Amino acid sequence: MIYNITAATGNLGVKIVEEALKYIPPKNLVLTVRNPDKAAQFQEKGVQIKQANYRSEKALAAAFDGTDVLIYIPSLTFPSVARIMEFENAIVAAENMGIKQFIFIGFMADHGNNPFKMSPFFGYVQRRLASGNVPYTYIRNGMYSDPLPPYLAELAKRGQLLYPVADQRISFISRKDLAKAIMQIALREDLHNSEYTLTGPKSWSMNELAELLSDISRTPIIYEPLSNQQFAELYDEPKGFGPILVSLYEAAAMGLMAEVTEDFERITGEKAEDLSTYIKREYQKLL
Ligand SMILES: NC(=O)c1ccc[n+]([C@@H]2O[C@H](COP(=O)([O-])OP(=O)(O)OC[C@H]3O[C@@H](n4cnc5c(N)ncnc54)[C@H](OP(=O)(O)O)[C@@H]3O)[C@@H](O)[C@H]2O)c1
Repeated sequence: MIYNITAATGNLGVKIVEEALKYIPPKNLVLTVRNPDKAAQFQEKGVQIKQANYRSEKALAAAFDGTDVLIYIPSLTFPSVARIMEFENAIVAAENMGIKQFIFIGFMADHGNNPFKMSPFFGYVQRRLASGNVPYTYIRNGMYSDPLPPYLAELAKRGQLLYPVADQRISFISRKDLAKAIMQIALREDLHNSEYTLTGPKSWSMNELAELLSDISRTPIIYEPLSNQQFAELYDEPKGFGPILVSLYEAAAMGLMAEVTEDFERITGEKAEDLSTYIKREYQKLL
């Protein structure tokens, strides 16, 4: 069985490759990457590296040749319509190359009424997969926990947690745990052809999160949300990204980012790491 992981040089991709190498010999693993230089550490281990930009259906088809199970991690390309074209190239290439299982790595913000400015992309992907002829699994990731530990020093300095989500909750999970579950889905055929929502064991209100961050940083942090506009202006990095970012918190303020499921435990046989343990450990590493 040949496994192929796209965007394998990204933060999530690297974690999935590391997880994959615990179970499969390097010669059965292919990485489809835009910049092969960034995958040198895996090439040294005997993993096959194929170069392909999502903009080229032809390069993707060549990279997918001989693949049985494809794990497709989308890029961060904006706007949605540009990312849709990248995905379209990949799904056409997958169809032409006879991929046996297309595992799409998505995001929880895919609801029909979700105001997140990338949700049109996820809407298209669902319909395209459902109406195509490649067997597929659709995975909805919860919000990454990973940005929180490096953000904590700034929050402690401000003494404020700023997310504009009113009294709603957010469901977090680390990239490491996501990689663990995603790789099990890839390896186990009994888990194929399905849909999963990967989350931590509970969702967090912003008051709970502020309390947790205060405990960990030993500094008082209170939940004082900014307005959407203030938040978009403060975190407009790179320029123009603020309104996109804040649209995700608009979705959260509607209660759309609070889903908690038992999928992670059902897939891996264990609970995803709790956010408090995760942040405590990772924050310590940064001190
Ligand atoms: N759950 C969440 O909270 C959350 C948050 C943010 C994003 N996401 C989603 O998570 C996914 C990836 O996350 P990440 O943390 O791994 O992001 P990342 O570290 O920025 O990685 C992005 C990857 O996409 C590759 N890429 C970008 N443009 C490409 C193109 N035109 N052709 C081929 N490859 C291209 C990059 O290649 P290079 O190494 O060559 O640049 C890199 O490997 C994205 O789908 C994103 O929508 C989820």
